[in-house]
Amino acid sequence: MRRTRIIDVLNSQTALDPILVKGWVRTRRDNKGFSFIELNDGSCLKNLQVIIDESTPAYTALEPVATGAAVEIQGTLVESPGAGQQWEVQASQLNVLGTADPETYPLSKKRHGDEFLRTIAHLRPRSNKYGALFRIRSECAFAVHKFFRERGFYYLHTPIITGSDCEGAGELFRVTTLEAQGAAAEEDFFGKEANLTVSGQLEAELFATALGSVYTFGPTFRAENSNTPRHAAEFWMIEPEVAFADLDDNMDLAEDLVKYLVQYLINECAADLDLFARFVDKDLMANLEIIANQSYGRLPYTEAIDLLQKSSKNFEYPVDYGADLQAEHERYLTEGHFGKPVIVYNYPREIKPFYMRLNDDDKTVAAMDLLVPRVGELVGGSQREERLDVLERRLTDFDLDHETYWWYLDIRRFGTVPHAGFGLGFERFLMMATGVSNIRDVIPFPRTPKHLEF
Ligand code: 4AD
Ligand code: MG
Repeated sequence: MRRTRIIDVLNSQTALDPILVKGWVRTRRDNKGFSFIELNDGSCLKNLQVIIDESTPAYTALEPVATGAAVEIQGTLVESPGAGQQWEVQASQLNVLGTADPETYPLSKKRHGDEFLRTIAHLRPRSNKYGALFRIRSECAFAVHKFFRERGFYYLHTPIITGSDCEGAGELFRVTTLEAQGAAAEEDFFGKEANLTVSGQLEAELFATALGSVYTFGPTFRAENSNTPRHAAEFWMIEPEVAFADLDDNMDLAEDLVKYLVQYLINECAADLDLFARFVDKDLMANLEIIANQSYGRLPYTEAIDLLQKSSKNFEYPVDYGADLQAEHERYLTEGHFGKPVIVYNYPREIKPFYMRLNDDDKTVAAMDLLVPRVGELVGGSQREERLDVLERRLTDFDLDHETYWWYLDIRRFGTVPHAGFGLGFERFLMMATGVSNIRDVIPFPRTPKHLEF
């Protein structure tokens, strides 16, 4: 007999006999003459109530069953007379697949703190909150592919190991097979310096000028030594790259993507989202409605600086033309001033990477950052410099080796076109979508400075 997932059991239109369910025991309650088990198999937030009557063979197998144990139960699905659930299973057979010692099993019915749960990241998906979170994460990843596929984008796998530093920020993890410190890169596996990618953008650009519209969705790595609630050393990024597109097209695409994903979650993950709306962020659904439905603010960097300078807020970091926006500034703009997502564009050339297209003012580049309430920067992107001579000058300005980027320059030699793209941090999106305030709690096994467990 095949097992029925609990989500399907709970959505059943009819009573079922027989039925086989498997899962982990959330609680067991013993009454006179019968016991209750709340069973969860990860397919949904709700538990399935199982009744084990003392007259059944199942009852004799009940002794070692405690919270955390894995069991399989055969029985019949009947209308539940009790309040709170439509269906319950009356067990006939119960088989213990794996016991869990109540003395040492770390999850109990009471709510645990996020910090404690981080120390048991191998078990936290068995809690209501993290079960819901990682179902949402999975659904959201699917929605990303759906969005791009509906718009004619091709899914591109860009390399994890690279020889270039896309962002030029020097936050690279070296990849090496050499034992000795300081050994020559020529001796190394690839015969040159290698590192984990910080972005698939440069390779995505190559493919955009062949397939038209592409996107990557994969892990990226940054050795940023900043221990903040919104930075991880390993995170997932969604990077579309579009030929024949300019900065306005890019902003439109980013706004469409964010709206689409939020609406998808509202439609498809209602039960799981509701947990976050009740226990994590009371304003969550109202905020998500704004993000899904209102048009986003758009303003050039200079106007953003103006706004910040005119605000009466006391910022920790001073606001000056030419300075990068700090998290506090981003949050003021999106939360304090606009009360909705906002896109800041045309940043000073000095504070953005070499590949961004130089504007006619010669001072700014066609960059754009999408900022959202509570999280700050969610998306960073730009129109790319497609003019060979300008790009070569920019490489020189940034002290970058033209040889290393010969293939990137080639694209500007052969059929160059205006093109644009951006990167959306998947974990930051999930923080926004759930109200969870620490990036460590939206990725299954976070990698941060001094943390590499699991
Ligand atoms: O703004 P970033 O650095 O842009 C790029 O890497 C471009 N090459 C993307 C592109 O144009 N194709 O990063 C993009 C996004 C940020 O807006 C942020 O959401 C996320 O990636 N991000 C991080 N998320 C978690 N931890 C980190 N350390 C992150 N660094 C960036
Ligand atoms: Mg950025």
